[in-house]
Amino acid sequence: MRRYYSGTNVRRAHSIAELASLARRRLPHFVWEYLDGGAEDEITLRRNRHAFAEIGLRPQTLIPSDAPDTTRQILGQRQPLPIAIGPTGYNAMLYKDADIHLARAATARGLPFTLSTVSTSSLEEVTAAVPGVNLWFQLYCLRDPAIQDDLLKRADAVGCRTLLLTSDAVLLGKREWDKRNFIKPRQLTWRNKLDVLCHPRWIRQTLWPHGMPTMGNLNPYLPADQRNASGAAHFIGNHMDTRLDWQALARLRERWPHRLLLKGVQDPRDAVRCVELGLDGLVITNHGGRQLDGSLAAIDCVADIAAAVQGKLCILLDSGIRRGTDILKACALGADGVLLGRATLYGVAVGGEAGAGHALDILSGELRLALTLLGCPALEELDADCLFRQSTPFLITS
Ligand code: LAC
Repeated sequence: MRRYYSGTNVRRAHSIAELASLARRRLPHFVWEYLDGGAEDEITLRRNRHAFAEIGLRPQTLIPSDAPDTTRQILGQRQPLPIAIGPTGYNAMLYKDADIHLARAATARGLPFTLSTVSTSSLEEVTAAVPGVNLWFQLYCLRDPAIQDDLLKRADAVGCRTLLLTSDAVLLGKREWDKRNFIKPRQLTWRNKLDVLCHPRWIRQTLWPHGMPTMGNLNPYLPADQRNASGAAHFIGNHMDTRLDWQALARLRERWPHRLLLKGVQDPRDAVRCVELGLDGLVITNHGGRQLDGSLAAIDCVADIAAAVQGKLCILLDSGIRRGTDILKACALGADGVLLGRATLYGVAVGGEAGAGHALDILSGELRLALTLLGCPALEELDADCLFRQSTPFLITS
């Protein structure tokens, strides 16, 4: 059975960058900018890629490593790859039921999938549609403790055992494309409406027949007449707890009996506080360059944070992973694994589950090849000795 949209064979793409350009052609402009854009001058967005390019690899030779072992112990479970799909919001704007397609692609490869608080499919829908999913849940701290508690109960009830609290987006970064594309919240400019009409395939694949997707997880908390994209956006704007602090994280640690990670760490001092609070892990991230423009590239934070936490918790990283060598570099510097955001979203936008799976397979193939060419028989044997700093200011353009 063909599982991708006919006319767009995702397998034409040989790299994540090629998947991105297919996605760009498929999506209306405002959706593409939401997926691909960063905050303000997009310095951090670009820095995420440059920082990987500035890390060179020094191979050792005559070491048989043609079938490298890429398995990794992450949060107590051995995975075939050091990868989880990370949390991203409004995914069904890319492709109908995108959360479910992403979860299926991850599960088929033995990898975890993280559902966002602002997902379009609910916790219950994803777990019903994807038997055996290793579901992680990302929590935005909400002002109303009853709603937050209910979300945690629902996550627990569907078998989620890993919770990621996002701390770097209590207010959304300044994303100027978002302001340009809408006359007022959720009302597109005429130019964008015309552009949508030029994408009938996207309309059929995404909006038909129910219109704009709603936010599955938040629907139960919205008044009946506001269970739509605009109502949910309004809800999030009003309910985000902008005064989130370490005490709130400590309370969450007491409240949530399973694995808890903080997503939003860049400073080693914060990483040490995560250890002191008894967290199971942290995610080094700059939210894909969508929040504080000018903040550090995630990969530039790994070595210091790994040295500070001394293996006492799991270190994951996101922001800018587009190549198998990026994953290799993150692991060599001390990360246990990576979360993928845009890389698998480009895939899902092009071809649903097959597209997301293809993105995972591209990265997995590149990682294996890189380990072989580096002369490293197992990911677990990697350390920073194979890395060096190189100056490549003009190599990466996007
Ligand atoms: C964003 C939120 C949804 O970056 O995480 O758009």
